[in-house]
Amino acid sequence: MSHTLEQFASQCHDFLKNSPGPDGRQKVADALKDILVDQTFIAKYLLPTTGEREMIYQDSELGFCILVHHYLGAKSSDPHDHAHSWAIYGQVHGTTAMRDFEKIEEASADKPGKVKAIRAYALNPGDAHVYNEGDLHAPERKDSTSLIRIEGTDMSKVKRFKYQVV
Ligand SMILES: [Fe+2]
Repeated sequence: MSHTLEQFASQCHDFLKNSPGPDGRQKVADALKDILVDQTFIAKYLLPTTGEREMIYQDSELGFCILVHHYLGAKSSDPHDHAHSWAIYGQVHGTTAMRDFEKIEEASADKPGKVKAIRAYALNPGDAHVYNEGDLHAPERKDSTSLIRIEGTDMSKVKRFKYQVV
């Protein structure tokens, strides 16, 4: 049976309310894996017209957001974390080549920090990965992709520091 956004959001709310740390987020990521392969859910929320970042739910009590992303063609990001917050990346279509980094030098408002790559792996359809506070990562997508992501808070409203790879 297909999932509804309301059921999934309410499940995420309960996991995050009962376990506000990494454990609760891992439970959300595990539940997200079922959503990523639910073709009825995907057909409803990831439309051909879906843009690069669209919020489909924000929790009024906890502030977490469920987002859909459709990247047409290649799309990469520099190494980043999610400041004081966290994010879960769920792959729907295509592949994200992800790299994780270790911090070598702190970043500040006027100076980028320095990071070193420590791990590389692929996120394929059905995969969901948690990035907790301070987890530095950089996604690279060589062709079109679709994702469902969950952010601990709406990151479009948060200022983040930059990092350079050394
Ligand atoms: Fe990220």
